[in-house]
Amino acid sequence: MHKPVLLQETIANLITDSNGIYVDCTLGGGGHFRHLLENLSPIARAIGIDKDIDILNQTRLNFNDPRVTLVQSDFKDLKQIVQELNIELIDGIMMDLGVSSFQLDIAERGFSFHEDAPLDMRMNREQVFTAADLVNNYSADEIIDILFKYGEESYARSIAKAIVGYRGTKNIESTLELVDIIKRAVPARYSREKHPARKSFQALRIAVNGELESLQRVLPQAVQLLKSGGRLCVISFHSLEDRIVKQFMQEKTLDCICPPDFPACICDHRAQLKLISRKPIVASAEECSMNARSRSAKLRVAVKI
Ligand SMILES: C[S@@+](CC[C@H](N)C(=O)[O-])C[C@H]1O[C@@H](n2cnc3c(N)ncnc32)[C@H](O)[C@@H]1O
Repeated sequence: MHKPVLLQETIANLITDSNGIYVDCTLGGGGHFRHLLENLSPIARAIGIDKDIDILNQTRLNFNDPRVTLVQSDFKDLKQIVQELNIELIDGIMMDLGVSSFQLDIAERGFSFHEDAPLDMRMNREQVFTAADLVNNYSADEIIDILFKYGEESYARSIAKAIVGYRGTKNIESTLELVDIIKRAVPARYSREKHPARKSFQALRIAVNGELESLQRVLPQAVQLLKSGGRLCVISFHSLEDRIVKQFMQEKTLDCICPPDFPACICDHRAQLKLISRKPIVASAEECSMNARSRSAKLRVAVKI
């Protein structure tokens, strides 16, 4: 079962008008979406987006509600999605980033380092490029870069070397084949701390799905689309995502972004957001004890000025 993370905190911060229009950019199993609908009036509207058609079709069955529109798309195209629905401004936009437990639990999707499956990791199965394409075709330097940048993997070099060495004899086809290569490339003590493939799998998943690019693209569109007083709520699960959200929100709170040594402002930048709090909202001890995934979750909330 997918347990929605920071559920009450997100929806309470998101809703400012129970008759309004809301977008959940990461519908997944619809945990947040369901709670959102429960707190909206009969004349409100809620749009749910997910790029994973399998997840969307499964979730669709639970939302036979005239207020609901579900869209299969990448949220990086948020503005276009909203325009095609003839909506101009939105009261609240939320994102609960990353993969859902549904995706992790279906072994054949290739996201899990616990189950043997083809090395896939695509959230959108219409996309051609898979994790197997990446590990079998990218140069050692490109793989090092991905493992280091997206996984903050300190053994990126030895893992990339092992991948390139292995594929000299045979293509890497399955998740556990890759896990084995990783295990042999890192010191034994590393495997005792956490699963040795955890960071590499995260890095590959982020690269295959262009996750950080989508996030960077959606944030400015979300700000443009929000009504004055509307809320942007983003839940992230690792420092790379959180850094993007934090820096973006902070910059949008500033009336000037000129370098500090400029004698006068020449940037014409005007604040568009106000932060609900400087620090992110994190899960309570109780939620962390019931849902391990919530331990790394950070919710940042901003209000459109
Ligand atoms: C963590 S889950 C969301 C879970 C959901 N909030 C719930 O409570 O059931 C993230 C979902 O967002 C989707 N997703 C991730 N990146 C996306 C993107 N760029 N565009 C659209 N959907 C995306 C994934 O396919 C996944 O289903």
